[in-house]
Amino acid sequence: MRHLIDTTDISVAEVDQIISTALDIIAHREKYAEACKGKKLATLFYEPSTRTRLSFTSAMMELGGSVLGFSDAASSSVSKGETVADTVRVLGCFADIIAMRHSKEGAPLVASHYSRVPVINAGDGSHAHPTQTLTDLLTIRREKGRLDNLTIGFCGDLKFGRTVHSLIKALSRYEGINVVLIAPEELRLPSYIRREVCDKNNIPTREVTTMEEVLPELDILYMTRVQKERFLDEEEFERLKDSFILNPERMKAAKPDMIVLHPLPRVNEITRDVDNDPRAAYFRQVENGKFVRMALIYTLLKWAEEQPVEGETPRLRGEEMHNDWQCSGRQCISNAEDVDKLFHPTEDGEYRCAYCESKVKK
Ligand code: CP
Repeated sequence: MRHLIDTTDISVAEVDQIISTALDIIAHREKYAEACKGKKLATLFYEPSTRTRLSFTSAMMELGGSVLGFSDAASSSVSKGETVADTVRVLGCFADIIAMRHSKEGAPLVASHYSRVPVINAGDGSHAHPTQTLTDLLTIRREKGRLDNLTIGFCGDLKFGRTVHSLIKALSRYEGINVVLIAPEELRLPSYIRREVCDKNNIPTREVTTMEEVLPELDILYMTRVQKERFLDEEEFERLKDSFILNPERMKAAKPDMIVLHPLPRVNEITRDVDNDPRAAYFRQVENGKFVRMALIYTLLKWAEEQPVEGETPRLRGEEMHNDWQCSGRQCISNAEDVDKLFHPTEDGEYRCAYCESKVKK
């Protein structure tokens, strides 16, 4: 059974296939109107969402399928203490495919271990957001005509920004990618991504603290919101929340064909008067999210039909089980629910948690 939990669960060729399907859907909407007739998507959203949940819903409706689920865990039996594992076992009786968003990192991975239908990670804590990445890739492809030979600046909250983590992983598999990280010291990209994704794949990567010094060289500026909900210290959030603001004055320094992306929601990091600049692609990006989720649902259901699996299918890929170890991640599902403790060894002889990538606490 194929799931989409992390960007790298699908090969570059498969990503390209999903993007091609999305482009075909855009060109021939009517061809897909009944492509998933009789199929049901369950949207299990334990954390707030506008775009992801509703674009999944809209995507399944446009494919002729139907949707069930919850948008507030408090209204489900989760509020009575039901685990992720049991919830997906139950949903597998009602639905053909599941999209899950959770504040606990690794919850969708746990779900995939116990689900008999495909599970899609719709965002887990600060960890990953692979369907936003597919959205971003489709947008880049449509706006720039390519996914290689690009200089992309990631700006804002690179520590908690799960969309940034997933997109860097995805782009690191293409040729000629240059990454510029624009963030205050406190919100820098997690070091494991810099080391194990950028450095390992020989992606030229630079860290800067101002937008001005790099704007003229960027093909893409990927703005992010400073994520209030992830901070433990409100004072720190207040100090950092206005770190980077993109406005028309700053846009004057950018290339005429640079595009501005943002996973949204935005707060104040892009001023309203940038919206009418043709380089502001973030609302076009939202619509691409629906098309690419249509392509993803269609593809995963097709793969599931080709490879049906009965029963539970733990999908260990080189991880080791050490139930006497503990993950150091405060938002890790393994510290919230009774799950097998899974770790993978790193090249420097350490172990990191398979659910959230935090270091092991032995
Ligand atoms: N981009 C994104 O994940 O938006 P939502 O939180 O509204 O789903």
